[in-house]
Amino acid sequence: MSQPISATIRDPAEILEPSRSPAGQTPTVQSLLFALPKGRLAHDSLTFLERAGLSVPTDTASRKLVLPAADGSIGFVMAKPRDVPTYVEHGAADLGICGLDVVRETDRAVYEPLLLPFGHCRLCLAGPTDRSPAQVDETVDLPELGSTAASSSPEMTGTPLRYMSQPRIATEFPRLTRQFFTDRGVNAEIIALGGSVELGPILGLADLIVDIVKTGETLRLNGLVEIRTILQSQAVLLVNRTSYQLKATAINRIIERMRRLTT
Ligand code: PRP
Repeated sequence: MSQPISATIRDPAEILEPSRSPAGQTPTVQSLLFALPKGRLAHDSLTFLERAGLSVPTDTASRKLVLPAADGSIGFVMAKPRDVPTYVEHGAADLGICGLDVVRETDRAVYEPLLLPFGHCRLCLAGPTDRSPAQVDETVDLPELGSTAASSSPEMTGTPLRYMSQPRIATEFPRLTRQFFTDRGVNAEIIALGGSVELGPILGLADLIVDIVKTGETLRLNGLVEIRTILQSQAVLLVNRTSYQLKATAINRIIERMRRLTT
């Protein structure tokens, strides 16, 4: 029978600050579980944690879902990015890393103590290069949702938004998309997809898309052009609200180690 994860992971206070938790002393905090996103943020997350001095799992390619750090100090869950805020909100994980885009879309009750210096991208409204003239002008251009910094890319500035009366928008971000259009008084039909939303306009399923843009290459290859930035995104550290109280010492040490790399 496999050991419960709590039995295989050591008290993080003992690992992170050995002098304050001498051998034999009863741990003052329980073990920490960290939810990391699979996919495009996985490598950068692990590299960042290592640079911050945290021990990370040695075999992240393993099919095993809960992985102890190499020194047993912290447990890691490699999760679907969309599930990371859910794990953290419910306390299934004490800490998590995922994109601000996912945090704003899932709208979970978690602490966000630190923006992390990787995973930069933007959530954009985009449409076909040869988009036909629309019938409705947007008269008020509101700021990006939950904006933390940065402005729209140059090709979008100064161009008035023009919408058809009931645009169909394909997206993996239905909540943020709904909010963007509702704020502008536009009655959009939101078509939620699980990925490859660029196919929407190509197949005639949607007029426009709202999707993540990094280099812009995917848009360009599929005959699409950015129209507006909805949200600037980057990786963010999440903390469960209760864990932040009950495991404050260990969690604050981790946050401080990370913060040193962000300033
Ligand atoms: C994202 C996004 C775009 C692509 C944009 O997909 O959905 O398809 O990256 O990147 P680019 O601007 O550098 O071309 P991702 O690979 O993260 O997978 P997903 O489609 O499952 O979201």
